[in-house]
Amino acid sequence: MVKVLFVCLGNICRSPMAEFVFRDMVRKRGLSDRFLIASAGTSNEEVGNGVHRGTKNKLKEAGIDASEKRAVQLRKEDYSRYDYIIGMENSNLSSMERIFGGDPEQKVRRLLELASRPRDIADPWYTGNFDKTYEDVYEGCEILLEHICRKEGIPY
Ligand code: 4NP
Repeated sequence: MVKVLFVCLGNICRSPMAEFVFRDMVRKRGLSDRFLIASAGTSNEEVGNGVHRGTKNKLKEAGIDASEKRAVQLRKEDYSRYDYIIGMENSNLSSMERIFGGDPEQKVRRLLELASRPRDIADPWYTGNFDKTYEDVYEGCEILLEHICRKEGIPY
């Protein structure tokens, strides 16, 4: 079982979007029983809150229901629980470095690091542009799934 955790600041916009998009991709390829997928935020600001309306609407357009998700805060123990810990932007990576106290097994990555144009996922909390965030998240999830399948020997 490959365990993947997506991480952003609040766990209401970008990381739940990545969690649900990635889970849907995995399901469509018939690989659901090979993966455990979750998301968390580095801050406690939104803990217990549902997914932001903008993210929920984009997911609904894609036929994905995220109404049950509640925001949780990243914990130090998550480092040993997950194999791939995927931040949305560089500041998430520095916060994770602080929370985990390092990254000795090099599990922490930025979602669009392997893209042809490596970059941060812009925060729609500030930009208001959930369409752009969805496109970036989708691109990152496709690249990530291919990367993990190749590394883990999962038929892709
Ligand atoms: P997210 O967006 O990190 O993509 O979930 C944000 C959500 C909440 C806040 C900032 C970003 N906030 O400041 O509360």
